[in-house]
Amino acid sequence: MKLVNTISEIKSIISLQKQKGTTIGFVPTMGALHEGHLSLVRRAKTECDIVVTSIFVNPSQFNDPNDLKKYPRTLESDLELLEKEQCELVFAPTEMEISGSEKPDVSQYDFGPLESVMEGKFRPGHFKGVAYIVHSLFEIITPDKAYFGEKDFQQLTIIHELVKKYELPVEIIHCSTVRESDGLAMSSRNINLSEEERKTALLLSSSLYRAKDLSNSLSPLKVKDQIIKELQSEIQLQLEYFDIVDSEKLNPINEWNESYHVRACISAYVGNTRLIDNMRLIP
Ligand code: PAJ
Repeated sequence: MKLVNTISEIKSIISLQKQKGTTIGFVPTMGALHEGHLSLVRRAKTECDIVVTSIFVNPSQFNDPNDLKKYPRTLESDLELLEKEQCELVFAPTEMEISGSEKPDVSQYDFGPLESVMEGKFRPGHFKGVAYIVHSLFEIITPDKAYFGEKDFQQLTIIHELVKKYELPVEIIHCSTVRESDGLAMSSRNINLSEEERKTALLLSSSLYRAKDLSNSLSPLKVKDQIIKELQSEIQLQLEYFDIVDSEKLNPINEWNESYHVRACISAYVGNTRLIDNMRLIP
């Protein structure tokens, strides 16, 4: 495995590989790697000749400076994990390398309603920053396939729009959410949870499973109201949103037959840690 920090070096390695007809799988991450990230790397290994994983905590997608400051950074153990997975290349640039000394202008990335609902409502500008970095990384790495987790479902929708809008020659591969054995979705932020908070955090996934159950007997609006009522009675958790949406347009739905694919999406603070999760309800 080779660690590369500069754009010029990674570009020249990749261009040599491409001349040989090698296919490139790409896994963009912000590090603090766990089984969720590694599942993406494993999938990429099975479908591509070489795998590039990037590790870059991208300031332009953080709307809260404190969140950026406390985001876990564990480069050494990340590299050990990637080595074990036999990832061929790790690209870990500095902020200066990616954006220079100027704050990047992310205003061209406009996804309309897709970026103003759910995460977009609570993290204004977040998806512009995500689109900026993913677009930049795609231009540097020029992957054949790029792997993203359903854990960040709205992000996945935005990435599809980005690829369509800018006609980027890359195939986006969806990977299922990896969970702890009790249901908690794996997240780099979970290491910030105390033992008590870790138990409370289970309310996110359990409410999604409950919504799935309730969806057999109640309308989407009633399921939503019921889950919100239950979560609001839990004082250790501060709910931001619980929405039942069409999987493509992310519009809230009122009737099950309004959409073919439906997702329930949730975000909440447990202590100072902001967590998200989602689950497919139908089909
Ligand atoms: P990060 O949160 O590090 O996640 C990197 C990738 O791992 C994303 O595609 C995310 O959806 C996936 N992932 C995280 N937890 C997962 C889980 N439990 N199961 C399956 N996949 C999981 O998402 C980002 O970084 C950034 O926004 C990025 C795309 C790298 C742009 O900066």
